Amino acid sequence: MRLEEDGLAVVLLDQRRLPDEVVELRCETAAEVADAIRDMAVRGAPAIGIAAAYGVALAALRGDDLAEAERVLAASRPTAVNLPWALAQMQEEPTPERARALHEEEVERCLRMAAHAAELFQPGTRALTHCNAGGLATGGYGSAVGALRAAAERGLLERVLVDETRPLLQGSRLTAWELERAGIPHVVIADSAAGSLMARGEVDLVVTGADRIAANGDTANKIGTYGLAVLAQAHAIPFYVAAPFSTIDRALADGSAIPIEERDPREVQELAGRRIVPSASPARNPAFDVTPARLITAIVTERGVFRSPYAFAW
Ligand code: MRU
Repeated sequence: MRLEEDGLAVVLLDQRRLPDEVVELRCETAAEVADAIRDMAVRGAPAIGIAAAYGVALAALRGDDLAEAERVLAASRPTAVNLPWALAQMQEEPTPERARALHEEEVERCLRMAAHAAELFQPGTRALTHCNAGGLATGGYGSAVGALRAAAERGLLERVLVDETRPLLQGSRLTAWELERAGIPHVVIADSAAGSLMARGEVDLVVTGADRIAANGDTANKIGTYGLAVLAQAHAIPFYVAAPFSTIDRALADGSAIPIEERDPREVQELAGRRIVPSASPARNPAFDVTPARLITAIVTERGVFRSPYAFAW
């Protein structure tokens, strides 16, 4: 992801086209960046924040109304707190330099976080992850996938089970693509296979990313994360969340007020452009859920490993 000052555009890898095609998308206005976020050409909490920061810098370079640019960007997706966080970071200095610094800082945070997370792995660990919390989702190394990469680099990871992550398949399309490029052994599974594989003793830990973490540790992440955490507890398997401090919403005491995005039901009713639900059957599409802190073994950030009761100091 980058801001081009010759020709003025935010250029993104279009995540909707992966894994078949590696294609860039050029956004020439903040509104186009907002569309790219809403339509999930760019997705993943930290990456959404970085894209929004570049969108503000783009609007400033174009001489557009900055308040309007911020409003449009802020309204693009509701759950990831990284979006309003990044917009707040850009307010004093809406420049390309500030946006690029924010991007670099986010990648550095992931690298530090991954080093802490690797300490939670034992030799031969068989991990399970959900959605995509990799380089694509963070503008660089990745949070949950960063933890897996750091564990693999230290020779601690046997393989990763990758939930396909219905309905938009971020696990099978994006996480598997990243793990394959990193040379990390992995197997894609249907989301509904996770419990059975845990029961068979094939999972040593679960690690996911996060879109918004309340002050008490309650964590919003991709729909299905809560179910996985319940399953992990039932099988006495540690459940870890890896996320940068920019994902912690200190204004929220607990997860009950985290806004949960409801997306177009057609994402559930259709697969690869084909209808997979009878035409008269309605569908619902909540895109995130909230995992209560009591189901989370630890939250790993760039500042270390936090356990309940969570005391995130700023
Ligand atoms: O709807 P998405 O694909 O943006 O959801 C992404 C997730 O839920 C990720 O797990 C989360 O943003 C963490 S990304 C490091």
